[in-house]
Amino acid sequence: GPFNPEQMVHEQNTNLQVFAREIITAATPTPEELGAQNRHLKKCRAICQGVCPEGELVPFGSLVTGFAITESDLDAVLTFPYSEDLFSTPDKSDESNSLPHNLAKAFQSEGFMVTLLLKTRVPIMKLALKATDENQFDLNCDIGFNNDLGVHNTRMLQTYSRCDPRVKEMVLFIKWWAKRRHINSPYRGTLSSYGYVLMIIHFLINVVDPPVLINLQNTRIPEDVPADQIFDEGGEGEHQIWYAKDIEHLPKTTNQMHVGQLLHGFFEYYSYRFQWGREVISIRTHGGIFSKQEKGWVAAVTRPGRSGQTQVKDRYLLTIEDPFETNHNVGRTCNAPGVDRIRAEFKRAVNIIRFRDGGKSMRELLCQE
Ligand code: GTP
Ligand code: MG
Repeated sequence: GPFNPEQMVHEQNTNLQVFAREIITAATPTPEELGAQNRHLKKCRAICQGVCPEGELVPFGSLVTGFAITESDLDAVLTFPYSEDLFSTPDKSDESNSLPHNLAKAFQSEGFMVTLLLKTRVPIMKLALKATDENQFDLNCDIGFNNDLGVHNTRMLQTYSRCDPRVKEMVLFIKWWAKRRHINSPYRGTLSSYGYVLMIIHFLINVVDPPVLINLQNTRIPEDVPADQIFDEGGEGEHQIWYAKDIEHLPKTTNQMHVGQLLHGFFEYYSYRFQWGREVISIRTHGGIFSKQEKGWVAAVTRPGRSGQTQVKDRYLLTIEDPFETNHNVGRTCNAPGVDRIRAEFKRAVNIIRFRDGGKSMRELLCQE
């Protein structure tokens, strides 16, 4: 037949759309799995109560945003009404008697595998539990301490997700793809799921035309909003946490593209338009892009961590500004080989979408383990 590039692109995107639908269905956790996660959460809550009766275990992350794919981790934060040093103990000298260590002992005695990561940027306790007859799903849970920012940005991601169903669909597909292609391991030099979600939101606000999303942080703050809803005292100073929540009153998008088209555009943008070496993604900002130079995010720096005794290395190879904690680079976990692999995966995806017939071979290759 006649050579018709537009027709070809159209067919490829339709095939991608069909394939994406299948992946999204496979990635969505079953009601049984979600039920099991909630039972795990209840159990963790009870154990925390025993050690820290004035504390509350609050879930955040993908279980709350609805961005969970099957076998997602559970993220939670233990909030308690005092803000003194986490490691303080009655006799100061004995760190093994501090709250994190006491919690670890309590979880261990209930059969959990516990790892305390206290020298990371944000101290966390990692919990793992194998499936049993009582709860037929494994648990992997990260518990943080008194860190509200995760709870706030989770709510904002949830608000973006409520604005348009394609947000969640793109997130589920990209998370599945990134996990299968092994570029979603922040502890091994690549990017967290949260980082991929911010890349998607930037694309949907600032790149695709017409936009799918409106910037919720860049609208005018109504005058009657109380101060404590605008700013929050975070671990490293004050953060602006305000964003538009009454989405019913915002204008609706005129973008009619299906997820296949959006995914193709997403892969193209990060393969050939986004300047990985020069640009910073900033979803709170009009236009969504800063230069690394403007942010002063150029050479890696080593600085003292939150608890004072630790050292944190900040890399600026892939730069994604946290929407509330604006001096935090969500891409800091990416090292040079990690960024190279991520970029190569974007180009690989584009090549498969553009040059494979879009049928069987695309299905086999795109999310191949
Ligand atoms: P999966 O656990 O892979 O299913 O994805 P998730 O959507 O739960 O994302 P992830 O575990 O990466 O992050 C959980 C939450 O941590 C996010 O929703 C944010 O609210 C919060 N968070 C804040 N800053 C960071 C950061 O720098 N890295 C990560 N990983 N999470 C952050
Ligand atoms: Mg998570």
